[in-house]
Amino acid sequence: MSAAAKQHSKHHGHREEWSGQFGFIMSAIGSAIGLGNIWRFPGVAYTNGGGAFLVPYIVALLTAGIPILLLDYALGHRYHGSSPTVFRRLGKAWESVGWFHVMICVVITSYYAVILAWAVRYVMFSTNLAWADDTTSFFLKDFLKVGEPGVNADIVVGIFIPLALVWIAAFIVMALGVTRGIERINRFFIPFLVVIFAALVIRALFLQGALDGLNAFFTPNWSALSDPGVWIAAYSQIFFSLSVGFGIMLTYSSYLKAKSNIVPTALVTGFANSSFEILAGIGVFATLGFMAAQQGVPVNELQGLSGPILSFVTFPAVISMMPGGPLFGIVFFLSLTIAGFTSLVSLLQVTSAAFQEKFGISRRSATMWITGVSGVASVFIFSTTDGLNALDVVDKYINELGIIGAAIVACVVVSFVLRRLPLLRAHLNYNSMLKLGPWWYAMVAVLVPAVLSVILVATVIELIKEPYGGYPVWFNATFGWAMIVGTIAASVIFSLLRWKTPVDDFDPMTFHGIEAAGGYNDSPVGATATEASASSSASTKQ
Ligand code: ALA
Repeated sequence: MSAAAKQHSKHHGHREEWSGQFGFIMSAIGSAIGLGNIWRFPGVAYTNGGGAFLVPYIVALLTAGIPILLLDYALGHRYHGSSPTVFRRLGKAWESVGWFHVMICVVITSYYAVILAWAVRYVMFSTNLAWADDTTSFFLKDFLKVGEPGVNADIVVGIFIPLALVWIAAFIVMALGVTRGIERINRFFIPFLVVIFAALVIRALFLQGALDGLNAFFTPNWSALSDPGVWIAAYSQIFFSLSVGFGIMLTYSSYLKAKSNIVPTALVTGFANSSFEILAGIGVFATLGFMAAQQGVPVNELQGLSGPILSFVTFPAVISMMPGGPLFGIVFFLSLTIAGFTSLVSLLQVTSAAFQEKFGISRRSATMWITGVSGVASVFIFSTTDGLNALDVVDKYINELGIIGAAIVACVVVSFVLRRLPLLRAHLNYNSMLKLGPWWYAMVAVLVPAVLSVILVATVIELIKEPYGGYPVWFNATFGWAMIVGTIAASVIFSLLRWKTPVDDFDPMTFHGIEAAGGYNDSPVGATATEASASSSASTKQ
């Protein structure tokens, strides 16, 4: 630890750190691999051109996913804090951008925990194939007790109990902290998840009809590439799946040690996440091939191949048909639970870190507040008879307007308003064995905001033209538009509250010991006076 870092700890209190690069990588991969990989990707890929979808998907990974992951890592590491702290340190006027990340995470957390509760319950249902013959009616009527949107919202006890367990587990991990809680579960669960999920996929590949499933998944429909909707789907998938652009990776990287090899870490995280995603696609479609063979229909005539229906209706139906179905079901829903849980804690850490830093409260108090608020929302909104409908609408708006909007604002503010990209690139290169070229500017400043703006405008037009999902207008207005406006308003309000910790007197150059080490000297365009003088006095390393 540099002398400045020691001084900083004395002044700001001790800040946790990952025990090393491995713990960080496991935690970052744990955050990235989640429900998005197992339930969302296979359906999105299939409905958007099958094998041809891999082209826009890989383009989106390379041009947006990895560049924004690097931006998140650079911001979190250099400015050493949660999203509100980082954006405040970039400039007082921008603190609310950081709070918007926090609000997005609060909203996602509230329904993400509920899906985990379903998965936990389905691990148990798998033991005796409790869904019997009609998996649709079991999921929607017997289990979720879904009613007409907005007619009534009674709490469903069958969801409430596993949900309480999910929250208790999350509370314990969060209260233990970054190293003893989050890092420890990821170090154990991520390798475990990879092993059990790989075993599941291998089993699926030996099912009768598996090859037809893979053919359906990988046979490219090249004409899909001329459809802008397919490109939109690829970019949206990458943002959610890689956990980038809404504070998670930024917060996680703030716990890296002062000198960390950042660029290769980002590549490992990005490729590990996408590899798991493609593995999930292979496993899911091999299994669907088996289902099609059993029913004597082509795979492309199967129904229910996307969203929660794929995991909670179609999959149980296949599980019932296969030899050793209960074991397959247990492993599948256990994988969903583990993948989702390690992502849930990363969402919670964004909020916890922000509250600890802004209000000077302990980790335990922050954990209590966060799990309390999100827990109450998850119980009273998403585990009711109206829960599935509300979840569907909130998920659509928060992902396609919230996350995409937050990423555009961050790119534009950092690139053009504050002009920090050269400094951030210098920071990444100073810390990494693998150097980042200037191509990164083109991605972060031009390509990503341009593509995301097209996506945002197209989505707004689509949502205005027709209420999403066939729900009533007022239902979309409440859980969609009002929710988005509410998160923006809350972000502004939080940014106006007084800081209880000394946030402003932080100098990244001295904190990281960059000057002392004869660190970088990239163009400090737009940097604060301290940074500008510090970086211009340092010698060049590149
Ligand atoms: N990245 C997480 C997921 O894929 C949020 O579910």
